[in-house]
Amino acid sequence: MTQRILITSAIPYINGIKHLGNLVGSQLPADLFARYKRARGHQVLFLCATDEHGTPAELAAAKAGKPVAEYCAEMHAVQADIAAGFRLSFDHFGRSSSDQNRALTQHFAGKLADNGLIREVDEQQVFSHADGRFLPDRYIEGTCPNCGYDGARGDQCENCTKQLDPTDLINPRSAVSGSTDLEIRDTRHLYLRQSAMRDQLNAWIDSKTDWPVLTTSIAKKWLNDGDGLQDRGITRDLDWGVPVRKGAQDWPGMDGKVFYVWFDAPIEYIACAQEWQDAGKGSDWESWWRTDKGAGDVTYFQFMGKDNVPFHTLSFPSTILGSGEDWKLVDYIKSFNYLNYDGGQFSTSKGRGIFMDQALEILPADYWRWWLLSHAPESSDTEFTWDAFQQDTNKDLSDVLGNFVSRVTKFCRSKFGEVVPEGGALDPRAQTLLADLQTRLTAYEGHMDRMEVRKAAADLRAIWVLGNEYLQDAQPWAVFKTDPEAAAAIVRLSLNLICLYGHLSQPFIPDAASKMLAAFGQTPGGWPSDVEAAAQTLVPGASFTVPDNLFSKIADEDRDAWKTRFAGTRD
Ligand code: MF3
Ligand code: ZN
Repeated sequence: MTQRILITSAIPYINGIKHLGNLVGSQLPADLFARYKRARGHQVLFLCATDEHGTPAELAAAKAGKPVAEYCAEMHAVQADIAAGFRLSFDHFGRSSSDQNRALTQHFAGKLADNGLIREVDEQQVFSHADGRFLPDRYIEGTCPNCGYDGARGDQCENCTKQLDPTDLINPRSAVSGSTDLEIRDTRHLYLRQSAMRDQLNAWIDSKTDWPVLTTSIAKKWLNDGDGLQDRGITRDLDWGVPVRKGAQDWPGMDGKVFYVWFDAPIEYIACAQEWQDAGKGSDWESWWRTDKGAGDVTYFQFMGKDNVPFHTLSFPSTILGSGEDWKLVDYIKSFNYLNYDGGQFSTSKGRGIFMDQALEILPADYWRWWLLSHAPESSDTEFTWDAFQQDTNKDLSDVLGNFVSRVTKFCRSKFGEVVPEGGALDPRAQTLLADLQTRLTAYEGHMDRMEVRKAAADLRAIWVLGNEYLQDAQPWAVFKTDPEAAAAIVRLSLNLICLYGHLSQPFIPDAASKMLAAFGQTPGGWPSDVEAAAQTLVPGASFTVPDNLFSKIADEDRDAWKTRFAGTRD
């Protein structure tokens, strides 16, 4: 039965180009899942956007010497381009600074206020004399009161994932000037009464028995931690952001303030569907998001890094539930650990590691997609090293898959021409192969359905290996000398396997998959669940072309050069 599947990836901050650790933690696995579900015939809406408000954007624009709106527009285009380069198949790549998100964010705030879930608090905030301004969120750094990490930011501790307020930090300093000449001043802010939602959130999370442990353990930790679910400030003294309004009305006392970026960012998941419709790419966006308007049969999946889990299991659900309206809640949250880089962490602020634009400069997307997905940091953090990257891609993509495709098509061309030969019946060895492939394919589907990315990659690799082993065993080049008919049957089956592989590989390596299929006049899109049937798809006599070499091996010189090039930090 066709399902309606809504998929969102955590929306990347606008400030600069993301590194491969960011990519594998949300956008890439979300794309894998979206491609798979589409191929299986389901109706998919896959959304992502840039996260444009708040201090990260302001700080980056200031550094680039540009007005923040202009900076964001430019960086959105840059990120959209790179996403396309990685073949991320978003149905829409929106912007959290859109008019749609502005209106929707103000709408939610109004509903929350109507429902008594917002309080106005006269609070104290950090003012920096050296900088001449209040220091919200990331403008301030210090020591985490929870774990003692000394690089914690005013919004969250990167080390222990605890959500923080700037005044929680011990030994605070300005992130702009480094100044510790700070003063606490009075200012009025809106607080979301998350604590009032505790029982509802607990019951909701308890009902999610199939979620990955990583997701529920983080959610539960902060839910039951006492102050993990404290009321949170949802406004800031900044210029750049969604102006504070109660729906369409002014909010007395809130002039000149904006909503906190973590309040409006997840609402962009919803607004993005509206942007998708307004861009003429679809219709009836509410049927994806409002359970009273047709979204009752939608299954909603979110993908994100582990540091994002508290915001998606506590804060955003509080907004949704607290609105009292029939918005769709997430059904499944797939979260990821961190990918490290060569003995340390990837770091945007330090420019450490490989960034998405640089990756595409040196190799096509498929190499990165394959390696990153097959090493996705699911059950623990994983590490990128150039040696592993070279070894694994050379083996899996060149020696196994590329070699199979090239050997079969070239051998066929030399003996039978560029047409699918007829040949005799399949021998018992081929029957065993088909049965083994069917077993693996069923496992592959199961792992893809459950978003077990590494296991799915291992299945796909095994499916490729089976073809190679069969060819090695069946030896059509030797058989041809005595029995050309039998050799033709082996070749016919192998050519069919290339098409099977093209369809099955498409979610992981879409470009190579398209080339494999194009050689036989096919396009990606289908899903051959039945191996036996798939093995007979090509009509004898049908012509094909020998595809160009799918993957070239990474040479030792290149590996060493890249190791050196990416050893330092990006300027
Ligand atoms: N920009 C955030 C990050 O990269 C993610 C925001 S996800 C959303 O960590 F839900 F808030 F949109
Ligand atoms: Zn901490």
